[in-house]
Amino acid sequence: MPQYHQSTAYRRETMSGGDMDWPNQPYPFKRYPNSEPRELPRPQLARADFWPLALGWPLATEGEPGVRLAGLSGLLALAAGLTAQSSGGIYLRAPASAGALYPAELYLATKGQDGLPDGLWHFAPDRGGLHLLRQGDPSAAVAASLGGPPRGLTFFISGLFWKSAWKYKTRAWRYCLLDGGHVLANLELALAAYGLGQRLCLDFAQAPAQGLLGLDPEREALLAGVGAGALVEPGPALAGGWEHPAEEPLSPSEGRDEVMAQAAALGALEAPGDSPAWPSGGPPEDALRLEPKPLAGPDLAQTMVGRRSRRNFLAQPLEPGQLARLLGAALPADGPLGATVLLGPDNEAPAGAYVWHAGAKALEQVAQGDQRHAAAVASLGQMWVGQAALNLLLWADPARLEAVAKQRGYRHAMLAAGRAGQRLYLAAQALGLGCCGVGAFYDAEMAAAAMVPSGAEPLYLVAAGPVKSGV
Ligand SMILES: Cc1cc2nc3c(=O)[nH]c(=O)nc-3n(C[C@H](O)[C@H](O)[C@H](O)COP(=O)(O)O)c2cc1C
Repeated sequence: MPQYHQSTAYRRETMSGGDMDWPNQPYPFKRYPNSEPRELPRPQLARADFWPLALGWPLATEGEPGVRLAGLSGLLALAAGLTAQSSGGIYLRAPASAGALYPAELYLATKGQDGLPDGLWHFAPDRGGLHLLRQGDPSAAVAASLGGPPRGLTFFISGLFWKSAWKYKTRAWRYCLLDGGHVLANLELALAAYGLGQRLCLDFAQAPAQGLLGLDPEREALLAGVGAGALVEPGPALAGGWEHPAEEPLSPSEGRDEVMAQAAALGALEAPGDSPAWPSGGPPEDALRLEPKPLAGPDLAQTMVGRRSRRNFLAQPLEPGQLARLLGAALPADGPLGATVLLGPDNEAPAGAYVWHAGAKALEQVAQGDQRHAAAVASLGQMWVGQAALNLLLWADPARLEAVAKQRGYRHAMLAAGRAGQRLYLAAQALGLGCCGVGAFYDAEMAAAAMVPSGAEPLYLVAAGPVKSGV
C-alpha cells in the first residue's frame, strides 16, 4: 500500500470547504481537433441473462472468434456509453463515476475486425464513434505490452487525471482507479454477454503500453488491458515516427498533480508480468453459509443501460436470497480485497458487521449491532448510507498487497474495489433495489465503523437496499 493512500485520507479536523473553480471545469470528453470520429452502426445489444454471467466467476477465456461492427458498437456502449442525462444536463454513462467526472477513458486495438481497418482507436462516448489514433497492425506491440498471444480486439482503460483532480485534487488517483474498475466490470460482463473469451492484464509493461496509445504519463495512466475474441498471429512491428493526434486541453488551464503522477508510476513494470495469485484463509466453522443462486432474467444489457445511483433508501431489510446474490455477483472467490458487510435489522443474519469470505460464500460476524449509522457519519455525514439495508465496505491489508504484488498491489486492490462496486450496482438493479457508491469518507472513522482488521485501509463503500420508486 503506498503512502499515497494514507496521505490522501480525509480527516475531520483538516477538511476545508470545497473551493470549486467553475470556469476551469474540464470538458467531459476528449477532443481531437484535427480528426472526426469514425461513426459506428447503431449498437446491437447482446441478449443474455444477467445472473448466470454475474455469478459465473471466472469469466470464460475462450468463446466466439469476434463480433460484427454493430456488436462492437454495442460492447463499447455498454462499457462506457451515454445512458441518460441528469436534471442539470450532465450526460451520465453506463458505469457509475465519482462526481460524474468520468476520468476513465476507453481505447481499442483492432486486428481483422469486421468493418474497421487495423489500428488503434479512442472511444468517443459523446459521438458513439471511434477516433483513429493510428492505422496499422498493432498486434505485435500489443503482445509486447500485455504479454500472451494477441487477440483480434484489445481494450485499454486509462485514468485521465485532470478530469477528476479538478474537483478532488490529489485524492483523484483513487477515483481514477475506482472508476476504471467500474468500466472494467461492465466491459468484462458485456464481453461475456457477446460470448467472447477474454484475458485481463493489469501487469502490463508500463512505458511501452503508454507509448503505444500516446498517453503522457504526467496526465493519463493506463490501468488495464483486456484482450478479447480469437487469437491472432502477431504482425510486424509498427513503424516508428508516429505522432499522437493533437488533443484540445480539457480546461482553459489544465492542472497537473505531481503526487498523482508519482502514485501512478509506482511499481511500473518493464515487461508484462503474470497475474498474481491471492490466497486467502477460510471462514470459521460457525460462519453463515450463503448460496447465491441464479435467477431467470433480467437481460444483462438492459440492466446495464437502466442502472443509476439511487440514494432514497427505505428502512427495510433485504428479501431472502438477495444478500447472497448481491455478494456473489460483487466479488470473485479470491482477490486482493477484504469485504465487510454492515447489515441492519431483520435480514437473513442479525444486525452487525460481517467479513464476507467470498471463496466459501460465508459471513463471519465480527461485531454485533447495527453499525450503519457510524458508517453514514464517517461518509462525511451522507446519512442515507445508514438507511440502506446493506453497506459493503471494501478494504485492503497493506502487508498482504505488498507480499503478493509488491507496489502493484494497490492498483489491483483499487481496480477490484471499483469492479465490485459496479457489479453490486448491477446486481441491485437486477433485483429492483437501489445502490450508490461512496468514495467520500473520513478514512480512519470508516475503518473504525466497519471494524476492519488493524492496519487495513478502507478503499470504497457501496450501499444497497430497497428504495422508494423513482430516482
Ligand atoms: C468511485 C465512486 C465514488 C462515489 N462517491 C459518491 C459519494 O460519496 N456520494 C454520492 O452521493 N455519490 C457517489 N457516487 C455516485 C456518483 O455520484 C454517480 O455515479 C454519478 O453521479 C453518476 O450517476 P449514475 O451513477 O446515476 O450514473 C460515487 C460513484 C463512484 C463510482
